[in-house]
Amino acid sequence: MNWGMQNRLARIIKPEDNRAVMLAVDHGYFLGPTSGLEQPRKTIEPLLSYADSIMLTRGVLRTSVDPKSDKPVVLRVSGGTSILKELSNEDITVSIEDCIRLNVSAMALSIFVGSEFEKETLVSLAKLVDEGEKYGIPVLAVTAVGKDMARDVRYLGLACRIAAELGAHIVKTYYCDDFEQLIESCPIPVIIAGGKKTPEMEALELAHNAVTHGAVGVDMGRNIFQSDSPVGMIKAVRSIVHEHVSVKEACKIYESEKGVKARRAAG
Ligand code: 5RP
Repeated sequence: MNWGMQNRLARIIKPEDNRAVMLAVDHGYFLGPTSGLEQPRKTIEPLLSYADSIMLTRGVLRTSVDPKSDKPVVLRVSGGTSILKELSNEDITVSIEDCIRLNVSAMALSIFVGSEFEKETLVSLAKLVDEGEKYGIPVLAVTAVGKDMARDVRYLGLACRIAAELGAHIVKTYYCDDFEQLIESCPIPVIIAGGKKTPEMEALELAHNAVTHGAVGVDMGRNIFQSDSPVGMIKAVRSIVHEHVSVKEACKIYESEKGVKARRAAG
C-alpha cells in the first residue's frame, strides 16, 4: 500500500488504537432535508471536534464546513437516485479530480448486493478502487440493504466480503447477530452504521456490541444528530469506541451533557 493511501487511512482509523469515530451526515444525497440535518452547518459545527472524520457529500462540504477545518473528510461519491425511485440505481457522482481538489481522506460508495442494480454498483466500486489506487485515496464501501433483504450475517457477510474482494479498503455495514462471523470472513476493517433513530441506550449498546465483536468503529448519523443531545451522544459513542467504557458509563456521559444543555436552555 502506498504512503499516501496509508497516511489517509491513518487519518480515519486512528493508529493509536485502531479505532474510528466517523460522523455520517450524507443522508440528504437521496433523502433530501433529513430531520436533524435541515441546516447542515448548524448540526455539524458543535459535533465536529468529537468526530475523527466526517462523511458527507461535496455540496454539504462546500457550503457547511469551514475549509480551514483539519477534520478528515470521507466524501460520498455515489448517488443519482432519490427515495422516490429505485435506490440501487446509483452511479459515481464525483470525479477523482474533484476528490483530490477537495483533499478528501477517503471516498464512499454504496453497493447494493442482491438488488436490481447489483452489478452496476459493484462495477462502480471496482472502478472507484482503480481511481483511488492511482492517487492514494482509500475507498469505503457502504453495504446498502434493499427493502426485502434480511440484515443477517449471511447477507451482510456476503456483501462485506464482496466489497473486500473488489478492493475496498474499509467497509461500512450493519451490526447483526453472529457479527464475529462477518468480521472473521472480512479481511478489511469494518465500521458499523447506526441505522434509524432508536432510544439512546440502544444506540450505545449497538456501538458497544459492534466494537466488542470486532468492528473498528462506527459511522453514525441519525442516532447522533436526531438525539435530544447530539453532543452528549457523540461524546458517549466516542468514549465507547476509544476509551472502552461500558454502556452504563457512556450513558452517564450522554445524560450529563443533556443536563448541561437543559440548564443552559433554562438560563
Ligand atoms: C446513508 C449512509 C449513512 O451515512 C449511514 O447509513 C450512517 O448513518 P446512520 O447512522 O444514520 O444509519 O450511508 O446512505
